Order: sequence, then C-alpha cells, then structure tokens
Amino acid sequence: MWTISENSFTAETQRHKETIFTIGNGYLSTRGALEEGYPNESRATFVHGVFDDVPIAITELANAPDWLSFNVLLNGERFSLDSGTILKFERVLDLRTGVLTRTVRWKSPSGLIAAFKFERFASLADEHLLCLRCVVTPEFDGAVEVRAALNGNTDNEGLAHWRWMSQSQRDLDDGQQAVHLHSRTRMSGIDLILAMRLCASSPLQPDYWDVESIPTLRQVFDARRGETIAVTKFVGVATSRDSESPLALALERVAKPSSWEKALEEQRQAWAEEWKRTDVTIEGDDEAQIAVRFSLFQLLIAAPRNDPRVNIGAKTLSGFGYRGHAFWDTEIYMLPVFTFTAPHVARNLLEYRYLTLSAARDKAREYGYEGAWFAWESADTGEEVTPMWVPDFRDKRKLARVWTGDHAIHISADVAFGTFQYWRVTGNDEWFSRQGAELILDTAKFFASRAEWQEARGCYAYSDVIGPDEYHDRVDNNLYTNRLAQWNLTTALDVLEWLRTHHPEKADDLIQSLDLSEARLAKWREVAEKIYLGVRPDGLMEQFEGYFKLKDVNLADYEPRTKSMHEIFGFEGANEYQAIKQPDVLMLFHMLREDYSDEVIRVNYDYYNTRTDHTFGSSLGPSIQAIVACMMGYPDDAYEHFIRAARADLRDVRGNAKDGIHAASAGGTWQAVVFGFGGLRLTSSGWEAHPQLPKHWKRLSFRFIHRGELQTVDLHNPK
Ligand code: BGC
Repeated sequence: MWTISENSFTAETQRHKETIFTIGNGYLSTRGALEEGYPNESRATFVHGVFDDVPIAITELANAPDWLSFNVLLNGERFSLDSGTILKFERVLDLRTGVLTRTVRWKSPSGLIAAFKFERFASLADEHLLCLRCVVTPEFDGAVEVRAALNGNTDNEGLAHWRWMSQSQRDLDDGQQAVHLHSRTRMSGIDLILAMRLCASSPLQPDYWDVESIPTLRQVFDARRGETIAVTKFVGVATSRDSESPLALALERVAKPSSWEKALEEQRQAWAEEWKRTDVTIEGDDEAQIAVRFSLFQLLIAAPRNDPRVNIGAKTLSGFGYRGHAFWDTEIYMLPVFTFTAPHVARNLLEYRYLTLSAARDKAREYGYEGAWFAWESADTGEEVTPMWVPDFRDKRKLARVWTGDHAIHISADVAFGTFQYWRVTGNDEWFSRQGAELILDTAKFFASRAEWQEARGCYAYSDVIGPDEYHDRVDNNLYTNRLAQWNLTTALDVLEWLRTHHPEKADDLIQSLDLSEARLAKWREVAEKIYLGVRPDGLMEQFEGYFKLKDVNLADYEPRTKSMHEIFGFEGANEYQAIKQPDVLMLFHMLREDYSDEVIRVNYDYYNTRTDHTFGSSLGPSIQAIVACMMGYPDDAYEHFIRAARADLRDVRGNAKDGIHAASAGGTWQAVVFGFGGLRLTSSGWEAHPQLPKHWKRLSFRFIHRGELQTVDLHNPK
C-alpha cells in the first residue's frame, strides 16, 4: 500500500489530480500537471520563501518558471491527450520513493502508435535537482522529436510575478551542454535560475531554440518500430535566497548526476531514510493505510530541511490556496508530526517563529500591547498578511471584512504550545534555552498586556477575540483563548525558573531584554489566577460568553446539504446560532488532556459534537473530533471523524482540493492515528500508549523519536 494511482484521464478532474500528484522535496513542490500542457490546467511549482507582492493579500508564493515542459512529436504530430486516441493511461505516485510515473499508449490522429512513459521526481538527496525522464517506444518507423523547455511565462492565476532577465546555452566543465533561464520576481526582486541538461540513450546533438523566456532544446531521433528512446531532462534550480550566485549553484547541480538511474538510486535511499523514522502501518484497513502514508508524504515534501526562514503554508506548496501563508495550522496540526518523527524539521519551523519575533513585537506594539503577537497569516517577514477583505460567498460582487488578523490572538499561545511540546518531546535544552524559551516568555508578556481587568467581576478577560471556531467572530472570553493564555503565562513562569537554575546567564539576559521585572511576573501570576473561564457546575464549558444564549440548531434539520452552515446562515447570521465550524472547547482536551476529567470531556463532547459542522465546516475539525472521541472510548464515532479527515484530499470531500493539500488535515490524520487510536501520551517519566483501535484494524504500528531515541509502538487488536 504505497501507491496512489488513476487509470484514465479526465480533463474535468485535472486540477484535483494535480494536487494529489504533487511531488516535492522540502525546497519546492510541483503540482501534477502533465508535461505537454493542457488548457484549464493549474500548472505550478512553488519554491519555499519565493514570495512576491499582490494586491489585498499583500504577498503570495510566486508560481515559479516551469521546469516540466516536455513535448513529443511523432512524424511531426504532437502527442496530446486532446487529440488522437488514448489506448492506455495510467498514473502512479509511489509514496515510498516520491516518483510520479505516467504510462500512456496513444494513437495519433493519423494512426501512428507509440507507448510513452513519463517519470519525474524532485530529488530529496539534492534539493536543487529535478529529474524528468520520457521513454518513447514507437510502433512505427519514422521520426520522434522531443522538445524540452524551461518556461518563464508563468503566472498566479493571471497575475504575472516574473521578469525575464537572461537566458543562454553554455558548456559545462565536462563539455556537456546546458541552457539556463534567469527570472526575477517583479516586486521582491528574488532571482531564480533554472538550468537544464538533456541525456539520451543515443548520442545527443540537440538544437537550441533561443525563444525569449522559453529556452528550448530540441532533438529529432530516427526511430525504429519497437526500439525505445529514453531522454532524461535534469533541471538545476536555485534562487538568490540560497546563494549569492544562484546561476553557479544551479549549473553545478544540473551537471552532477551521471545518469537517471544514479539520481533515482539516491532518491530511493533518501526516501528510505525518511520512512524509517516516520512510517505508520495499519493492517485491516487499506484506505486508512494509504491515507496516513499519503498525509505523511505530503507533509514531508513540504518540510523545509535546510531553511529556518520559511514555514509551511496551509496548503503546503501544492496549490494557490491561501497563497503560501502559514497559520496556527503549523504549530497545532503539522508541527507535532515533525516534533515526533523529524525533529530537525520541527526545529526549523520553530526557528522561523523565532526569526519573525521582531515582526510579532511590532504587531503587538501597533495595537497598543507588549510582547509578541504573531501574525495570524505569516509569510516571508512574519508581518501580518491576512487579507482584510475577501469576496462575500453569498454575493461575490460584495466584499466581506476578514477579522482574524486583528482578533485571533490565540496564535501566540499556539506558537508557545508548539515550542513547549517540541522541548518536552526532544529534550533539546540547547535550542530551547537559546531560542525556544524566549518565544514562550514574550508571548506570555503579550497575553498579560492584552488581558483586561473587570473590576465588577473580579477577573481578567479577553474581549473581542476570535477563537478556533470562525463562525463566531469578535466574541468575548473565548474559552480556548483564555485557557491557552493562562497556560502560556504559567508555563512562562516555570520556564523562567528552569532557565534561572540551568542557564542563569540566559535568564539574566532575557530578564533584561524583555524587562521581566518582579512586578511584571507578579502580574503574570495574577492574570493566570484570575482569568475568566466559564465552566458550569456540571462541567459544561461555554465556548465564549453568551454562546449558550444563541439560537440552538439541529444540524440534522439541514440535511442533506452541500454547503457549509456559514454559507447557509451568512457571515452575520452565523453569529446568531450555536452551529460551530470546528472544535473549539474540544481542542483543549486534545492539547491539555491531563487537566480534564473523563466526565468533563464527555459532557462537552456530547454537547459540541452535535453542533459542529463536520461535513462542510473546517477541514481542521474531524481529526481532533476523532481524537477526543477516542478519549471517550467511542471508537465508532472516532472512526467516522477520522475517515472524513483521511479523505479530505484523496476524495476531495469539500470540492476544493484543487487549491492544494489541506495540510492541517494531513497532520491531523497522523495525530488521529497516533494520539487517538494509538493513544500515545507523554507522561512525566516518558510516554504511554492507551490504544483504542477501530474494531476492524488488525494492527497499528508507528514510530517516533523520544529524546533522541527511536521508539516503535506495535499494537494488535485481540482476535
Ligand atoms: C480555519 C482556520 C485555519 C485556516 C487555514 C480556516 O478555514 O477555520 O482554523 O487556520 O482555515 O487552514
């Protein structure tokens, strides 16, 4: 169970399939568009950190110049699935090796038949190397012509980000020929170089077509019936973010591989290493098995291994959705996967937050607060890039104001939470004392300054916020926000104590630089003690003040439906009902499990489960719902939610997978398996598993790294 495949070509579902068949290597990803190109495709390659300006959404990842372009002509007739007859079609993504293969047997309009095999991968062994091979077996004697190009004329759904700078054909040191294309983003001024070299089974003397912005190599082969022609296109890629001389870097990398086989062997080995740490085995449920591997694969191809200046966008690098911006999706949904299985990646992601601390401080100051308030949507600099306006889904001619950038303050506590969890799991004291502790202290400082003292009630409050459930905006005392702020403050006090004991100099530095006076620390303690938490005597917790007074809903009354409750009620209307978009109170049980009794979890699960828009609300919901259902010992419920998360992209359950992978759902799918069904929990002395396997699962086995040691958990269902 390692492959995702399809055996027919359907133009209408092309964009969804492009997302599914995305390949990548943590430096860039390329959607699964077909080499020869089609109308209506959404062809794209995104390189981490290559942002450019855009109206309203401020900045977006620029769709990079295209490295895939490869056309084949049979006696002058262009191979295209739009013409002639498709005699056979199959596409397979091998998750074990990251290689995407397409095999086609095709009859041209004039009756020439040939078999084609296209293979591609983004090298995990060398992130600046991309490899594509085309193998053609003609069933006729004649001419087979190949045209391999680099195409600088790409755009982001109409918006052009690239300026052509230069291109050339040149000799590499060993006498091989390469062509290069140099493009520059229009506003951010990032240089990107693509360098291409062709290798073939028979000697190559390609023509160079010097078409501006589309340098092309063309070769005509004298083809014989049944004799195979194989052409490999190696592409080196580098940007001015990587090197002062990206051209030299791209040329050096493109020259390196001696053959397709050699590059492929290195790719196989690199992926084998990845899977050694990360693989999850599920026996007795093929769909769950492939979904969890697919989720891991999608996260691993988006995971920056060598660059702490970038984060992972909500749609990874696999689509235009959310423009490459990172959200709390990173710390709460994706980061745990890396913390537990690829701590070097987790550290890079957290270091990104550290590097963007000054932008977070500026944001807090701008709104009149202290400390670090991270951007709800974050890109290259860490400044807030949440668009203020989006088209209203009820009437696209109107605009609706987006408030998350101004009011979703929980992001700061989410970052602190991810930092603390990383420290707890890895035991990396060195990094934590150097960078992590500061993230927790400065976010605590923010929450203390943002808290409002309410004299009449004798408590601290956070008014006018947005919690995880975005059907309700600008509410007071969102429980998730308040409880996590409290957690952030008390954890910061403990962290400072730890620093004082173990790294006194660092403690002194931070006390100085963050102005952690005794008076300030006393205020932190007071806010944490007196924060408003609306818990009723029966344990039911109010999502925010006034939530229980809203109109109740029976979501079953709206079935069958094809729209979210947000669309049904409208932006304003949704605020009047108890229908929620995604777990909010229930998030707390997932994150702070040890603080809540089984009874409290049950009361709240039963209440909120029926009021949550599981089908069309947020894709972030179902995995958490599954985890909490497991805590309750409701494995059937848990499975229903889990499988919804697992299908998010593979089955396109929300109809928007064309915009890119739902990265949080992918992370949540892994978490539902490991923390939900596997029941993995950290304890003060290490870890424990409290499994709750679905009845039909025979076995669940997973690995993770705890304090530097690889652990394996192997669980079997009693027969
Ligand atoms: C969800 C947020 C999430 C964002 C990006 C929204 O629809 O409600 O929780 O951060 O999507 O995935």
